[in-house]
Amino acid sequence: MSQEKQVFHPNREFAETARIKNMCEFENLTRFAQEDYEGFWGKFAEEKIEWSQPFTNVLDESNAPFVKWFENGKLNVSTQCVDRHLVDKKNKAAIIFEGDRGDSEIITYLQLSQNVNKFANLLKNQFNVKKGDRVVIYMPMIPEAAYAMLACARLGAIHSIVFGGFSAEALKDRVEDAEAKVVITADGAFRKSKPYMLKPVVDTALKDVTIVEKVLVVERNHEEIEWVAGRDYSYNELIKNENAHCEAEEMDSEDPLFLLYTSGSTGKPKGVQHNSAGYILWAQMTMEWVFDVKEDDTYWCTADIGWITGHTYIVYGPLAMGATTVMFEGVPTYPDAGRPWAMVEKHRINQFYTAPTAIRVLHKMGEDEPGKYDISSLKVLGTVGEPIDPPAWKWYYESVGNSKCAIVDTYWQTETGGHMISPVPGATPIKPACATFALPGIMAEILDDDGKKAAVGEKGKLCITRPWPSQIRNVWGDEDRYVSSYFGDATKDGKPVYFSGDGAVYDEDGYITITGRMDDVINVSGHRMGTAEVEAAIKKHDNVAEVAVVGKPHDLKGEGIFAYVVLKSEDTMAEEMEMAKEINGVIKVEIGNIALCDNIVFVDGLPKTRSGKVMRRILRAIAKGEEITQDTSTLEDPSVVGKIEEIVNSCIL
Ligand code: WTA
Repeated sequence: MSQEKQVFHPNREFAETARIKNMCEFENLTRFAQEDYEGFWGKFAEEKIEWSQPFTNVLDESNAPFVKWFENGKLNVSTQCVDRHLVDKKNKAAIIFEGDRGDSEIITYLQLSQNVNKFANLLKNQFNVKKGDRVVIYMPMIPEAAYAMLACARLGAIHSIVFGGFSAEALKDRVEDAEAKVVITADGAFRKSKPYMLKPVVDTALKDVTIVEKVLVVERNHEEIEWVAGRDYSYNELIKNENAHCEAEEMDSEDPLFLLYTSGSTGKPKGVQHNSAGYILWAQMTMEWVFDVKEDDTYWCTADIGWITGHTYIVYGPLAMGATTVMFEGVPTYPDAGRPWAMVEKHRINQFYTAPTAIRVLHKMGEDEPGKYDISSLKVLGTVGEPIDPPAWKWYYESVGNSKCAIVDTYWQTETGGHMISPVPGATPIKPACATFALPGIMAEILDDDGKKAAVGEKGKLCITRPWPSQIRNVWGDEDRYVSSYFGDATKDGKPVYFSGDGAVYDEDGYITITGRMDDVINVSGHRMGTAEVEAAIKKHDNVAEVAVVGKPHDLKGEGIFAYVVLKSEDTMAEEMEMAKEINGVIKVEIGNIALCDNIVFVDGLPKTRSGKVMRRILRAIAKGEEITQDTSTLEDPSVVGKIEEIVNSCIL
């Protein structure tokens, strides 16, 4: 039997003590939600959240797609993640930090509480941060980043984390869109034993920005940096003056918790807004169901806090459930591709969660490395961010999981807040490289263009047909965009429903396999890149007349970025090579290294319809070296297609 057809059943011993022990329990939960949606969510919200005032209504859909969950409930997310664990987990490790150079630190729940309270006091007393203020966090993977998030939550300030790999220009855009009052950063951190810098990027980003009043700098690598008098302050100094008690602001269920900017198919990145109660509830529930972390377990998610995975599954989810979460500053392949397994051995890690890109790289660079360490503590392995290919799945299952760990292929998005479709490790019979079933409470459906459930084997739109607690509440400052981006492209029974942008397919057993984005979003190493964003960056080059970018399959990254550029001037080959370098240089400045193009080809014109729309499907097919199946006769100039093919074939294939 081919591996793809094989079904892997849960490890029996594991299942016995799992929270969801078998498919019968899983289906009962699913049925509960189907039969009594509000009863289902109300029950878990009552059970899981420490309310300072109970909610009076589970769900208000009267103004859909603007929905309200757990109305009139009051809580504070930092209380949920920290204070309530002080009763019985004071001395339990909350965060295990592993530095790039192998230095590590254990932060207990008591210490976490002290650090978060002091941090919140600092922001409140010295920077005048209040409920509703926006605070941008541009930080490396150090515990202070988690303190900063929770300190904002404690005060009711809305944090917006910007991934440390984004450029000054990208940071500036996000600071301005959110109208942030404070930026929290670090001098820098360490990567591959060498210091790297963040603060200079902040300085460049803020050069012409007047709204930011204060910049707080955590001194991590102690390299020399510039300090702007009256704006920049050292965290290490200011924190000494603060005491470890800061009253948590009482927040409404629907008060915003954070913004996180993400790419869509058009325009600038969107500030995805998540609110307090619904988000933290689902973060905690999915931690419990999908990773099944037990009281004495140690859990490690390798993401960066700059992405949603880091928000929900390094900080909020694990801490809400009172787990021990590992934070890693370094690179998984340094000093060699055995680093993650050395860490699993050192910290006796039980759940390991990473992206297929990382698995492919670790496989390629260190196929035999897992065997050199005692990684027998592992129980659950997770993947996220992009489809995992069967060879990577097999190596992960056999060599890392010793053919005994469940692999949870978790499908979700920045906008969904937490997992939507995923196996649960004690129950789901797993098919490799398949996200399997929607979690109980999540009404995911694959719909065809008429809003009907797609037939077995028919690719359709992956939709979520009922609101769920951790769903995006708004695009920051742009309600129209929220509605049009997520509720404008699919309907069920005539009503608009949430469309994820992904295609998916059912198999004969009802399993869901994600087939990838149906829009113009490219998934590079599990990171979302909007074509419009990359094109806008490339257009900033003086000599670029037109540009179209598409995704092209890439062995390690999943997808790479392929750009077709029409120049203003005619150039020689040598000049074109120089131009390609310059174009990537512009991208680095405008977005950051993560958006660099793998291929840049110079063409005379783009395939456009008579109304001027670029036919990306044709460009995607050419980039992949596939035959063109579209009718090109209706193009404004059909001859461009052959010319582009010729150029691409001579350049790269
Ligand atoms: C893709 C990351 C296949 C998908 C949590 C989605 C996946 C986008 C999977 C969201 C998976 C995420 N299998 N594809 N298990 N998980 N994706 O917002 O295209 O950074 O729309 O959130 O990643 O990326 P985002």
